[in-house]
Amino acid sequence: MKNFALIGAAGYIAPRHLKAIKETDNNLVAALDNFDSVGIMDSYFPNTDFFVEFERFDRHLEKLKYDKGLTLDYVSICTPNYLHDAHIRMALRRGADAICEKPLVLNPWNIDALAHIEEETGRKINNILQLRVHPSIIALKEKIKNGPKDKKYEVDLTYLTSRGHWYYTSWKGDVSKSGGIATNIGVHFYDMLSWIFGKVQQNVVHVHTHDRAAGYLEFENARVRWFLSINFDLLPAEAKAKGKSTYRSITVEGEELEFSEGFTDLHTISYQEILKGNGYGVEDARQSIEIVHNIRNQQAVGLNGDYHPLAKEKLSSHPFH
Ligand SMILES: NC(=O)c1ccc[n+]([C@@H]2O[C@H](COP(=O)([O-])OP(=O)(O)OC[C@H]3O[C@@H](n4cnc5c(N)ncnc54)[C@H](O)[C@@H]3O)[C@@H](O)[C@H]2O)c1
Repeated sequence: MKNFALIGAAGYIAPRHLKAIKETDNNLVAALDNFDSVGIMDSYFPNTDFFVEFERFDRHLEKLKYDKGLTLDYVSICTPNYLHDAHIRMALRRGADAICEKPLVLNPWNIDALAHIEEETGRKINNILQLRVHPSIIALKEKIKNGPKDKKYEVDLTYLTSRGHWYYTSWKGDVSKSGGIATNIGVHFYDMLSWIFGKVQQNVVHVHTHDRAAGYLEFENARVRWFLSINFDLLPAEAKAKGKSTYRSITVEGEELEFSEGFTDLHTISYQEILKGNGYGVEDARQSIEIVHNIRNQQAVGLNGDYHPLAKEKLSSHPFH
């Protein structure tokens, strides 16, 4: 049984980590969040020591180490994106491995800094890249691997996941904290594409506003038109009629990849792999972080070149501007 601590316990994604720690039969010794709405702990680890101040959390871990001889094995990090690297450093300096949510960091040079501390401490940084453990994505990777080596597949990727106005008030709507929607929401898909189709050769952004982003990415083995949005109005009528708030579609050579199901247990599967020593690390994250950094820092070119059909949709105004 491994000992875990968790940072960011009150947030949206924390229950998936609590569940994964529990389902892999491990122990959560301490948790931290500066927001104290953490009744969720009762469903998983009622006896975990919970803190709202970093200093008290840190002191408690120190006490467990020296008074009780407890070894902290992992720190799970579920905090806002721009805090990940600091929380990872805290974990590694304590002698624990880190299990960090996506995106690992916001910029490529943050990866270099993390690689240094990994080397210095001899501990490992694991990144949750859960699409890599999704059965349909694994099957697609296998299919491409066994196909012609020099082929460029034509791929269209559409990810519409509506978010309310709260999104713009929270850290997720602040580019300096989340990286913006391509980073915060798109990173899963850029990682998946990199994993399957190889090195990036071209990265063009057509549209990039508060609620959507569209672009073109060329990989060694794929030409990808992509579109992401958090605006409910852009969902297909059929999805809206069914009361759905999310629509995902990936077509490869015009063929739809079926991956509407199978998203619920991916954190637990990721934890099982991490515990076996097969976690995805800093270098695995690098290309997707380079992609999101480039998307964030380039000027959108408008409707020129090979753009995703939804890029043409009428733009909407920011709810608070
Ligand atoms: N893998 C996925 O599918 C997935 C889905 C959603 C979010 N995420 C990622 O998970 C992370 C958390 O996202 P979320 O949606 O749960 O956000 P959230 O805002 O719901 O939760 C973040 C939590 O961190 C806490 N926090 C903020 N600063 C802190 C600090 N200094 N110390 C301790 N706690 C602090 C907040 O109080 C909050 O409870 C992000 O990196 C996000 O990108 C991943």
